[in-house]
Amino acid sequence: MSDRTVVARDLVKTYENGRTRALDGVSLEIFSGEFVAICGPSGSGKSTLLNLIGALDRPDSGELWVAGEDLTRSHGDFAGFRARKVGFIFQLHNLIPSLTALENVLIPTLELNRRDAHARARELLERVGLADKAHRRPPELSGGERQRVAVARALVNNPELILADEPTGSLDSKTEQAVLELLRGLQSERGVTLILVTHDPRVAQSADRVIELVDGLVTAPVAF
Ligand SMILES: Nc1ncnc2c1ncn2[C@@H]1O[C@H](COP(=O)(O)OP(=O)(O)OP(=O)(O)O)[C@@H](O)[C@H]1O
Ligand SMILES: [Mg+2]
Repeated sequence: MSDRTVVARDLVKTYENGRTRALDGVSLEIFSGEFVAICGPSGSGKSTLLNLIGALDRPDSGELWVAGEDLTRSHGDFAGFRARKVGFIFQLHNLIPSLTALENVLIPTLELNRRDAHARARELLERVGLADKAHRRPPELSGGERQRVAVARALVNNPELILADEPTGSLDSKTEQAVLELLRGLQSERGVTLILVTHDPRVAQSADRVIELVDGLVTAPVAF
């Protein structure tokens, strides 16, 4: 189990009292340190799957183990799990407009009370090329800069798993390359597992493996 970051068996997730079957029995395994791209048409269940893996939501049925934790149990410290193990990057960056870039990056550290949080946040802002803009608020940053703040925020707690939902969707190709290189660097340097939803074939090509969802099911064979 420890060589796999994600083990899912027959995951089902419905909405609207079962009228929408967003995931219709998804089984997959993702190895520690792997970079997996999740592709598929709009509405195929990609974001739903990512939300389950990140313990933002719970499946109706099936098994789901992530970073050694059983995410189907009825009670658990899911907030603690997210803070310790997972970094999220959403398509819309979800920054808080009234806080500076630095304060936004520090948000996930509040849950863990880390003493080195400030230094780590500054180091990451430097790494994404925003050291000189740490005190700007999101409305004073460009779209690409905001997304880079979101990347720094996702990394601040040293997560073992990064979940990214179209993180480069709104970026120009140069910024997209920079964000991808940063994520890939973390994967190779620190063995971070990277699961990235994308519509972009170029982004998918750079992954170790592509998992395709159609109508809530995995289509591509799960090849290892
Ligand atoms: N909160 C919700 N309530 C009701 N239905 C939902 C909810 N979230 C998602 N759905 C439905 O579940 C299905 C899967 O949605 P999901 O967001 O996972 O798709 P997706 O693959 O991420 O699509 P996109 O590429 O457009 O982001 C869709 O039919 C969607 O309408
Ligand atoms: Mg989506």
